[in-house]
Order: sequence, then structure tokens, then C-alpha cells
Amino acid sequence: MIDIHTHILPGLDDGAADWNDTLSMAKAAAAEGITKLISTPHHANGRYDNPAVEVRAHVNRTNERLADAGVPVTVAPGQEIRVHGDLLEAWHRGELLTLADSAYVLIEMPFSHVPKDMKELIHELGVLRLRPIIAHPERNAEIVKHPRLLAELVELGACAQMTTHSLLGDFGRQVRQAAWTLCESGLIHVVSSDAHHHERRGFRMREAYGAIRQRMGEPWEAYYKRNARCVADDMPFDSPPSATASDTLLRRLLSFFTGSS
Ligand SMILES: [Fe+2]
Repeated sequence: MIDIHTHILPGLDDGAADWNDTLSMAKAAAAEGITKLISTPHHANGRYDNPAVEVRAHVNRTNERLADAGVPVTVAPGQEIRVHGDLLEAWHRGELLTLADSAYVLIEMPFSHVPKDMKELIHELGVLRLRPIIAHPERNAEIVKHPRLLAELVELGACAQMTTHSLLGDFGRQVRQAAWTLCESGLIHVVSSDAHHHERRGFRMREAYGAIRQRMGEPWEAYYKRNARCVADDMPFDSPPSATASDTLLRRLLSFFTGSS
């Protein structure tokens, strides 16, 4: 398994505080069958700044130490980039990282709302040949209320990442309900842990994939797993299992949400 959204690098944000935390998280990941973790420290969220060059240095050091410790997990560079007005300029300044040096870039909206220039940003990232993945939309209050807002962003070329803990109820009933609605609507492309700590907020990847298999069927579990590998290998995502034509599902969703919200 591959986990594309983790806070495993030591001391960079509110994830692993030090090397011992990093090591414990890596061991927990390995025990679940995870072989690759993309490290996505918070960047430009008003509290943490982790520019590309610093993240890369930490990734190299962490991989050396994990190899020395005999933990069969590798870490790849990335960031969880808060949507902000300077984002495109920051990209041109070389401060931003894609996920594992692919075309995919993990962006985070505020929890309260969808920024008004979000559609323009998705478009501009596409012009740069980047593929934005919106982190945990199920935790955005406006999307929980109006899922069609996510459908519109997906139609413009965005992808979306679901967090295991949301599916499993760790963020409460409302987030859990929203999480399954978005998955079952075909608006989610990849599932990951957003792990911050091996005990307080771990991976739960195996459990989440098990729940997906049980509720949505094995093809969806395989779809999400394959897409996580596509991020690491810089390949385009597959079509979701129930799509019969390239854009039929999205069109159905858009009309459904427009009518129901
Ligand atoms: Fe995160």
C-alpha cells in the first residue's frame, strides 16, 4: 500500500515531533503493509512554512535513518499546501513540491469554506500541467453542505483525497456521513491517512480499505489503491469502476447535486 498524505517528517509541523515519533510511525505503517509514505508537511497555512528545499533535506535524512533502522518503508517528498493568494508565485519561485515528484500536488482549503478563487486556481494549476488533489474535502463545512461544489471542482480537473479517519468516524458522525456520500458519489480519487502520530492519529489504512470493500465493493477498493500507486508513479488515474463513459458519471452527479442541495 501507498499512503500519499502523511505528517511523518520529524519536527516540521504538528505531526511527528521528533525522530522517535517518526520511527514509531514508520514501524506502524510497515505493520499495516504500507511500503511508501509521501511526506506532506503543512506549508503556508499561517502556522507552518516548509519550503521545498527543507522538505527534501529531511526526506533524504529520514530515508537514511529508516534504512539504518531496518524499517521497510520509504518516504517521498511532498507538501500539504494551503490555498493562498501567493501560491502560483510560490510555485514559480521553486518553494513548492508536488507529490513524489509527480504532476500531482496536494492542496488544502480552509475548513470553513471554499475560497472564492478556487476554480481559477484549479484552472491555473492545469495550465502549469499540475494535477491538484484537494485534501480531505469531507472536512470542509461548505462542501459537507453542498457536495456539488466539489463536483464542480472535479469537473474542472481537480482530484480529491479522502482521509481514512473520516470514513471510520474519528471526526464525528457528520464528517463520517459526508465522507461516505462523497466516496459513493464517485468524487473521491484516492484514500490516505493524513497520519500525524502513531497512536493519537495513526494510519488505519487497512481498516478503511476493508470498510470500503464491505460497503462499496472490491472494485472501489482496488480503484483507490491503484490511484495511490498512480500518484507515486506519476501516472494518470483510472476511470472509477461504475463509470460507463468518460464523463457520464460526473454529468449525472452534477445534475443530482444541483437538484438536491
Ligand atoms: Fe494533512
